[in-house]
Amino acid sequence: MASITGLLSIIYLVLIPVSCSNDPENIISPDVRVNLSGQGVVIGNTNTTSWTGQTYMQFRGIPYAESPSGELRFKPPVPRKPWSTPLQANDYGRICPQLFEYNRLSPDKLKGDLEDCLTLNIFTKKLNAKQPVMFHMHGGRLQDGFASDYRADYLLEKDIVLVVTQYRLGILGFSGTKSPDMSGNFGLMDTMLALHWVQDHIAAFGGDNSKVTVFGESSGGKLGGALLISPKTPPSSFHRLITQSGSIVDERSTNMEPLAQVTRVCHALKCEDCERIDRAQQCLKRAPVMDILKASESERYGLIIGDHYGTMPVHPVILIEQTNKNVPIMAGFTKHDGSIALGFFYDDFKVSHPNLNTVTVGDFATGLMHRKNDTTALINNNVMTRLLFPANLWHSSDHRRALPAYFDLANILYFKSATVGFTNKLFEKAVYPPIYFYTFDYAGEKTKFGLDMGNAQYPFNGGVHHSDELIYLFAMKPPLNAKDTEVAKKMVDLWVSFAMTGVPQVPDGPLISPMNSKRGPYFHIDKEIKVDDDILKEFTATIDDPNNKNLDRPSKIW
Ligand SMILES: *[C@@H]1O[C@H](CO)[C@@H](O)[C@H](O)[C@H]1NC(C)=O
Ligand SMILES: *[C@@H]1O[C@H](CO)[C@@H](O)[C@H](O)[C@H]1NC(C)=O
Ligand SMILES: *[C@@H]1O[C@H](CO)[C@@H](O)[C@H](O)[C@H]1NC(C)=O
Repeated sequence: MASITGLLSIIYLVLIPVSCSNDPENIISPDVRVNLSGQGVVIGNTNTTSWTGQTYMQFRGIPYAESPSGELRFKPPVPRKPWSTPLQANDYGRICPQLFEYNRLSPDKLKGDLEDCLTLNIFTKKLNAKQPVMFHMHGGRLQDGFASDYRADYLLEKDIVLVVTQYRLGILGFSGTKSPDMSGNFGLMDTMLALHWVQDHIAAFGGDNSKVTVFGESSGGKLGGALLISPKTPPSSFHRLITQSGSIVDERSTNMEPLAQVTRVCHALKCEDCERIDRAQQCLKRAPVMDILKASESERYGLIIGDHYGTMPVHPVILIEQTNKNVPIMAGFTKHDGSIALGFFYDDFKVSHPNLNTVTVGDFATGLMHRKNDTTALINNNVMTRLLFPANLWHSSDHRRALPAYFDLANILYFKSATVGFTNKLFEKAVYPPIYFYTFDYAGEKTKFGLDMGNAQYPFNGGVHHSDELIYLFAMKPPLNAKDTEVAKKMVDLWVSFAMTGVPQVPDGPLISPMNSKRGPYFHIDKEIKVDDDILKEFTATIDDPNNKNLDRPSKIW
C-alpha cells in the first residue's frame, strides 16, 4: 500500500516568476505537488533550514478529517473526503477553537467554520526516499496550542519527515458523557486518525511508515502516553514514543467527573433542564463556538475513563499493565518544570495574601501542595515536608530562603513524580520496553517563563522552565546565540537519533543506556550530555544545586 502510494505520487516543480519587489518576504517559493492516492493533490512550498540553509518542502494545513462541526461536533473524527481540485497547502490551517488565542486574533479571522481545524503539517526534504517520520502533538493543557508554533527549521537539518498535527481541544475535544451521542476523548481519537493517515500517505512525502516516532510535550506527552496504552490506537501506527514533561498517570490527565462538567457548562450557557443528560448534550451541541468557549473558560480537561468507543476503557494505571505495545520510550522533564505551577500559584495566592511577610513558609507550601494531590503513591505530603523543609524554615516567613524548596515541591508535584510514576509502571510489566530517561538542565538565554503573559511580577526567575526544551527543537524563539545553538544541535541529535535507531545519541557523547531499574540510569541534557545513576536525585535538584541563588530576584518583594 505504502509503496504504491510512493510510486503514484507525481511531483512537479513549477517555478512561479519571482515578484518585482526586492522584499524577500514577497518572493514566492517554487510550489511543490504531491498526489495523495485516494485523496487528491496537495500543493506546498519551500523554506530553508536554520543552520545549513538546506531547502525543505512544506505542506501545511492538509485536512485529515471532515470538519467536526454541526452534526459531527462531539463525534469521532470522519476521514476527509477526497478533493478534486488541487489543495493549496502553503499555509497553516485554522487553529482549533481556544479562547486565549481567539482573544488575541482580529475578528475577521474568526469567520467561517471555526471548527474545521483538523489538519496536518508535513515537512520533508525528499519525496522519493524512506525517511524516519516524527509525529508531533503540541501541548497546552488540552485546551490551547496550535501547529504553527512548531517550526521545522532545526529538525529538518536531518533527513526525517516531520508531521505536526492539530486535534480538538477543550470543551470540543475532551468533554463527554460516555454515551454514543457524546462519548468523550475526541481529541485523542483525532490523533489516532491522524496516525492512520500517516500510515496511508506518508510514503508520498518520502516517509517510512514503519519508522514513526510519536512525540509530544506537556499535554502532548500525556496524549503520547494515551496512544501507547489505548486499545484503540491503530496497530503498528507508531514505533517509538517520546513524552516530554507530560505523564498519562498524572492526576490531571484524567477527567473523573465529566458528567458534572457537561451539566455545569450547560448551566453557564443558560440552557434549560441541564440535569437531563440528553438536554445538556443538545445544548452543548448547538451552542455557537464563541459561546461554548466562554461558558467553559474555567473548566479543566482530561481523558474520560469508560468512553463509549473504548479509547480509555479503564484507568490509565491499569491500561499500562495491559498494553502490549513495547516500543522504545524516551521520557523526561526539565530541571525546573514546576516553576510554571509555582508562578500560577503565586499569582493566585497574592490575591488573597497581599503581604506574604505575614504568611509562613508552611502555609504557602501547604497551599501549593493542596492545589494538586499526588496519585502516583510515590510521595505523601509529610515525606515531602521532611525532605524539603527543615522545621525552622517551615515555621518562618523567609520565602527567599525557602525558594529552592518551593521549586522542588512544585517540580515533584506537577511533573517529576508523575513522570517517574509512568516509567515505574512500565517497569512493573513482565516485558518492558527500553526506557531512556532525561532531565533537561540547560538554562539558555531564552525562556518560556510566563508563557505569553510576561513574568515581571515574580520575585523569582523561572529556571529551566516548563517547555524550555522546545526552544531548541522547534526554533520557537529564533535566533539563538552561539552557545544556545550548540545545545539545539545536541537536542536535534538526541531526538532524531532516537527516532532513527531507538537509541538517543550525540556525536562524541557518552553512551546513553536504557534504565535497568526504576531508578536509572538516566541522563542530563546541558552544555554537555552526562549520564547519571539515580533519577530520584532529581526530586531535590534545586535544593542540591550550588547555583540555586540564581533563581532569586533580590530586587523584588514577596
Ligand atoms: C493522482 O493519482 C490518481 C491515482 O491515485 C490518478 O487517478 C490521478 O489522475 C492523479 N492526479 C493527478 C493530477 O496526477
Ligand atoms: C520560513 O521560515 C521562517 C522561519 O521559521 C518563517 O519566518 C517564514 O515565514 C517561513 N516562510 C514560509 C514561506 O513558510
Ligand atoms: C487535595 O487534598 C486536600 C486534603 O484532602 C483537599 O483539601 C484538597 O481540596 C485536594 N485538592 C485537590 C486539587 O483535589
